Formats: sequence, structure tokens, C-alpha cells
Amino acid sequence: TILIMDFGGQYSQLIARRIRECGVFCEIVPYNKPVDQIKALGPKGIVFSGGPSSVHSENAPKCDVRIFELGIPVLGICYGMQLTALALGGEVAHAKSREYGNTKLFVDRNEGIFAEIGRETQVLMSHGDHIHTPPAGFAVTAHTAGAPVAAMANEQRRIYGVQFHPEVVHTTEGMKMLRNFLFNVCGCSGDWNMGSFVDQAVQAIREQVGDKRVLCALSGGIDSSVAAVLVHRAIGDQLTCVFVNHGFLRKGEPEQVVRTFRDGFKMNLVYADVVDRFMDRMAGVTDPEEKRKIIGNEFIRVFEAEASKLGEIDFLVQGTLYPDVVESGTATAAVIKSHHNVGGLPEDMKFKLVEPLRDLFKDEVRALARELNMPEDIVWRQPFPGPGLAIRIIGEVTAERLEILRDADAIVHQEIKNADLYRKVWQSFAILPAMKSVGVMGDERTYAYTVGLRVVSSEDGMTADWVRLPYEVIDAISRRIVNEVKDVNRVVYDVTSKPPSTIEWE
Ligand code: XMP
Repeated sequence: TILIMDFGGQYSQLIARRIRECGVFCEIVPYNKPVDQIKALGPKGIVFSGGPSSVHSENAPKCDVRIFELGIPVLGICYGMQLTALALGGEVAHAKSREYGNTKLFVDRNEGIFAEIGRETQVLMSHGDHIHTPPAGFAVTAHTAGAPVAAMANEQRRIYGVQFHPEVVHTTEGMKMLRNFLFNVCGCSGDWNMGSFVDQAVQAIREQVGDKRVLCALSGGIDSSVAAVLVHRAIGDQLTCVFVNHGFLRKGEPEQVVRTFRDGFKMNLVYADVVDRFMDRMAGVTDPEEKRKIIGNEFIRVFEAEASKLGEIDFLVQGTLYPDVVESGTATAAVIKSHHNVGGLPEDMKFKLVEPLRDLFKDEVRALARELNMPEDIVWRQPFPGPGLAIRIIGEVTAERLEILRDADAIVHQEIKNADLYRKVWQSFAILPAMKSVGVMGDERTYAYTVGLRVVSSEDGMTADWVRLPYEVIDAISRRIVNEVKDVNRVVYDVTSKPPSTIEWE
């Protein structure tokens, strides 16, 4: 294992994933993790991340100098290098000019992490402070026009510092430097892969849970599904999953979830079919926020009721990913503030959390899903809002309108898949606005619903762009919807991005 001590830098997660790309397992831990705990973990190397602050500012996160006495190799990146310098008696100064962006690095010593790196190479710099004097025993190993000490090393103690960011692609030989650190300096073997991740996670879950019982709210989305399957692999029937069908799921979805988890993975699955109950609660409701609130609250009631039928449960599985982890190092026992799919679970439901994905990125979760032999349609499922189709029907949600939207949405899904676009876009779905318009079919005048088509690309859902779909794809979707879905005579394409629109219409 490599430990990344997180000083709050924006690239800590990226360092982690680069190291895993090298086939080396790593963990991100808070910067103030006690030294004896670090020692107990027995890492082969330690990386100090960058950080947002100046080492001289009042609240600057500091490191414990005893870390350097463990005999474990250390690589300090940016802020991490400055801390290293300061901790070991070097001098850090405010640079006269800040250095940001792509910079030419002159390598003075081709050894250690710079073994087989060119004499001149491009790196990404982003810093205000710089090292004025390295600590005793350290050599300057590289410089730039603006930073006389752009890298330093104490080869004997195996302590390294770089002022730039080796983890970003702009540092063209960054991966080579990381590999040098991991393999030449730390002696990592590089044979870690998703299979080893599964073994480690299974072990860790067993240790955490013991013989206690565990609950999981399964939505059918990739994160909760992968977390559930992993936990099931670790503790089998000690896990019970609860799947709530509120009636606003897509065509075939409830059946697919039951088939996959109950029949396929042989998991204990409680299937709560509460479609009628939710429909009753939605009668006459047209306000988007009210819809969300009602569905969120009702979901919690159903979940609580199902959970209480199961008797004593100590743990709850959450499919939290690294990007969702707001604070690193939160205690394992926590009150759940929000269920990441629907509304929020009540404050008084106290579970300890099992979060086996909290070190991973989305695409790593997909790789893990494949390792666990999960079906493709779960591995690649697009994001789907907790309140489901209810917030894609503008105005009142009725059984008739739900059926129309569900059928139209299934056609969008099929055609986008046929065009081989399903994995390439962020989301593709149908909307049912609260409007009818005039059309003509055969010789008949019609007065029927309009269906909206929404297809967006996005990195994280925070911003999004409407996708320039080929006309033939739009045409195929439009023809099929009007021909096959009853009471629809018009299809429109949403050509607004986010902002100023949102992805969903409610
Ligand atoms: P908006 O409409 O805000 O959506 O642009 C951004 C992303 O979030 C999804 N979304 C939700 N996901 N529960 C969820 O789990 C919700 O209540 C919810 N509302 C929106 C939306 O599908 C898009 O990917």
C-alpha cells in the first residue's frame, strides 16, 4: 500500500488514481493521521498531497516530523514538498512571481524519481511559495526559470519533493516519475488489480461487520448495486437488500432488479411494491418540489417499515464514491444525512456505515462491476433521479400519463442504444409536458400529447450540453414514438444546455 496524506489539495484523488493505474494499491488518509497508525498500516511509501494554503499561513495543515523517521520513502508534491522542507529545517519563501501553468523543467540529477527522465521536460506548476533553501542532506534535483528548487531529494533517506504536479497529464513525464517512485524507490510490485481490490474489500468488510446484520437500499443504479454485490460476496446472507418500487421506474426496471439480485446473485432481497400507495399520494400534486418532498418522505417511511420488520440491524451499506466523500477521515459511525438517491433518511435511524467504494472513482466502479460479473445494463446504467419518472411528467402524475412516458422513454432508450450512443451520452430520456396539440393521422384530426426528447453530455451533472444528435436518430425516435405510443402526436427536442436549463425538467 501507498498512503496519500491529504493536505486538501485539489489533485489528491487524481494522485490516488494514477498510483492505482500503475497497479499499486493506495489509500487517501487525512493529513493528521497519527504516526503510530501510519506505522501500523505498514505502507511501502507515503505521498504528501498538494494543498491550498501557504505553509506559513496560520491555519496551514502541518505534518508530524516523526513520519520522516519511519524509514518509509516519502514523496512530497507541491505543498507537500514545502512542508517536507520546512519540517526538516529548510527554508520556504514567498516567490516574487507566482508560477502557474505549463513550465519547462530542467532536471539536474537523473536519479531517484528522475531516473531516465529527459534533461528538459514539461511540468505543470501551480504555486505561490517556493523552496529557498533545501534542508541539510538534500540535493536540488531540478529547477525552472522561476523556481531555483523545483525538486529536491535525499537519496539516502529516500525523501523526495517536487514543486510541480506529476499526477496531471500536462506533466508529460509525470507517470514515469511516479513509476520511478513506486517501483524503484518504494519497491512496489505493481500487481494490484480489481481482483485484488475485491479480495481486500471482502476482508475489510468481514472485519468491520463481524457476525452482525447489514441492510442495503438498492436502487438498481451502479453504485448501490456494486456496493451490495461486494458486501454480499463478503458476508452472504447477513446482508438484506430492500428495493422499493415506488412506481416511477422505467419500463422493465423492477423486474430486472429482482432478476439480477434475487435470481442471479442469490441475495436476500425484500421487494416492496408500493406503487398504489405512491400513486395515491401524488393525486392532484403538480408542484415539482412538492412531488420530490412527498416521494422522498414516503420512500423513507417504506424503507423504515421494511427495515423494522427485519429485526436488529447494525450496519447500512452506502454506495458512496470518492467524489462524494466531503470530509476525509469521517468516523465509521455516522448519522446518515442523505440517502444519495432519494431524499434523506431520518436523523434518528442510526446505523454504522459500510462504504466499500469510498476510495474509488466512477470508472473504477465500472471496472469493479465487471470484475464482479455484473450485467452490462447495470454497469452502464445512466444516472436516474430518485423520484424517477414522476419529475419527468410535468403537472399531475396519473396512471395514463405514466404509461405514455414509460413507453416513449423505452423507445428513446432502444434507439439511442441502436445508434451506439447510450454509453457516450450522460443521459438520454423522454419528458411528458402537460400539453396537447393538434395533429393529423390518416384523415383524422388528433389532439394529443407532445413528448420531449432530452439528450445531454456531461462530466458530472453539474453542467451539461445538449447533444447534437444525428438527424436520423432524432427522426427514428420521433417516428417510433408517434406511431407506437398511444395518444402522442408530436415530438420535440430540447436544445438547451445547463446552465441556464437543468437536465431534468422539474
Ligand atoms: P438537474 O436536473 O439538476 O440534474 O440538472 C442533475 C443530475 O442529477 C440528477 N437528479 C437527481 N438524482 N435524485 C437523484 O438521485 C434526485 O432527486 C435528482 N434530481 C436530479 C439528474 O438526473 C441529473 O443527472
